[in-house]
Amino acid sequence: MTSKSDIYPVPASYAAHSLLNEDGYIEMYNRSIQDPDAFWREQAQRIDWIEPFTQVKDVSFAKDDLHIRWFADGKLNVAANCLDRHLEKHADDTAILWVGDEPGTSREISYRELHRDVCRFANGLKSLGVNKGDVVTIYMPMVPEAAVAMLACARIGAVHSVVFAGFSPEALAGRMDDGQSRTLITANAGRRGGRSVMLKQNVDKAVALCRETTVENVVVFNYTDDTTDWNPAIDRDYAELVAAQSDDCPAEVMGAEDPLFILYTSGSTGKPKGVLHTSGGYITYASLTHEYVFDYRRGERYWCAADIGWITGHSYILYGPLANGATTVMYEGVPHYPDVTRVAQIIDDHQINILYIAPTAIRALMAEGDKPVAGASLESLRLLGTVGEPINPEAWKWYYRTFGRSQCPIVDTWWQTETGAAMLTPLPGATALKPGSATRPFFGVQPALVDNEGHILDGATEGNLVLLGSWPGQMRTVFGDHQRFAETYFSTFENMYFTGDGARRDEDGYYWITGRVDDVLNVSGHRMGTAELESALVAHEAVAEAAVVGYPHDIKGQGIYVYVTLNSGVEPSEDMRKALRDWLRAEIGPIATPDVIQWAPGLPKTRSGKIMRRILRKVAADECDQLGDTSTLADPGVVDHLVANRAAAT
Ligand code: PRX
Repeated sequence: MTSKSDIYPVPASYAAHSLLNEDGYIEMYNRSIQDPDAFWREQAQRIDWIEPFTQVKDVSFAKDDLHIRWFADGKLNVAANCLDRHLEKHADDTAILWVGDEPGTSREISYRELHRDVCRFANGLKSLGVNKGDVVTIYMPMVPEAAVAMLACARIGAVHSVVFAGFSPEALAGRMDDGQSRTLITANAGRRGGRSVMLKQNVDKAVALCRETTVENVVVFNYTDDTTDWNPAIDRDYAELVAAQSDDCPAEVMGAEDPLFILYTSGSTGKPKGVLHTSGGYITYASLTHEYVFDYRRGERYWCAADIGWITGHSYILYGPLANGATTVMYEGVPHYPDVTRVAQIIDDHQINILYIAPTAIRALMAEGDKPVAGASLESLRLLGTVGEPINPEAWKWYYRTFGRSQCPIVDTWWQTETGAAMLTPLPGATALKPGSATRPFFGVQPALVDNEGHILDGATEGNLVLLGSWPGQMRTVFGDHQRFAETYFSTFENMYFTGDGARRDEDGYYWITGRVDDVLNVSGHRMGTAELESALVAHEAVAEAAVVGYPHDIKGQGIYVYVTLNSGVEPSEDMRKALRDWLRAEIGPIATPDVIQWAPGLPKTRSGKIMRRILRKVAADECDQLGDTSTLADPGVVDHLVANRAAAT
């Protein structure tokens, strides 16, 4: 139950001036559900179509006939929607405000300049033989050239696959192989927290590891002074490549359902999936949500502090804001470098109006008391946002009081790589806020809660979060594996999209996400499959078996707790613990570094050999008094050992 004091009404300043008030939201939401075709036909007019569409949608969620198409016979170019159409009246507006890792470094890039850079690089890609439909992998630091690379792909109809620059060579190679990608765009190194991150070294290793594809071109942006190996057969210098190109590159005419990008994300089974997004529906939805969720007005400076390697960076650093002619801030560094006041300083230095950041960053700053905002004015800020994981009310209130000066609404946006853009979210002028709740659905979104048998539950209740019906930003398939798409999202509950999240709905119809109900971890807002971590662990020569679970962590939201059974003859030791930590970092990346490794001579299994994760989660969470029924275990003694040795591991 929410007490009255935990409701934050719409501030008067918002009610008067925002795009929508409460009644406006209800009217628009109802229209979007009652007559979705008319609603989306109208909303899609915000996009410049080269040829208009006739049919709004053609969708079936039936497992055996699964297809999702929006605006299918329309033609457009996404990059032209983000650039060319602003040139007539807004060419000199700042498109990207880049803020460097080192304090005092920044760069403003106008729409005119960004358009020119994208055209040149697009011509460069063409000169390397990249064609419409080819998959281009981007492994870049947070520099404007990363945005240029993505938009250049969109301009020529190549499909970008951005791989977060924190991923290891193995993870990069796996994604290159899956996408059959022959072109890679990278930098010699990136800068983060005062240090160089040696990307090209990782790329060289990844290229050697690729099995299913042959890398033909590695375009290297020489960004820092760090030197790298150079393989003249495939390495191309970014500056040389663009210097030779013309500024003129006509935008390719793309079908609305032509792929725009692939982005890999983790699920509860198997390897990461290539989530495929297409052109017309995605850009319509990214742009519409960006405008309404952030109540965006032209000229404002909007900062989404995500990385371009995640969906948040795709939709809310790049595509949504640029489609709306916004000034989007791109920050290279980390929130605590050189010290914890950095975020506030950037806001003051650049007079930022909107800040959108992950709960994990908020909690890390909150751990410093009020130091992160000491001496800062923050008066330019008018709206705050969060995304990526549930935000605990305490962190919400700290964020509201410090950064928000108790005046700025907070939009807690729930969504997923798969949904393309925000799904459950407050709208600043329309929604009274409750700390910790992502509140209500965006236009066209039909959330429902179902029990484990798929029965829809009414009223104030808790259950599995599903979505009934499609929305334009929905993923269309798993790249190369439509069957896996059907099985992952449409087979648990018939004719519904299953999110993998649990949620509660309160008496006001507000949604409260309770977290994943599958074997997916959310560590500092990064999604990881336990199966992925486990298969990496058992690939180590000393490991016989491994099980990974999440446990509550004050800053990260969830920490990674690993149980390892070593091969006989291998003794547990601190050196072995370090070796396994390093192994996971090398196999997946630093985000997969375990917080706890517990040696387990045996794992709790049923008689049929299934690991009882429920018990492992309880032990990890230090709730050993709530283990529940252990009588179905093949060897209940295993649990006693785990409980007795927990303390030694943590
Ligand atoms: O569990 C939900 C959590 O993040 C998952 C999606 O992760 P990813 O695809 O990496 O996308 C993150 C950025 C959109 C969801 O299934 N999640 C995301 N936003 C929220 C959230 N949990 C609670 N509240 C949120 N606002």
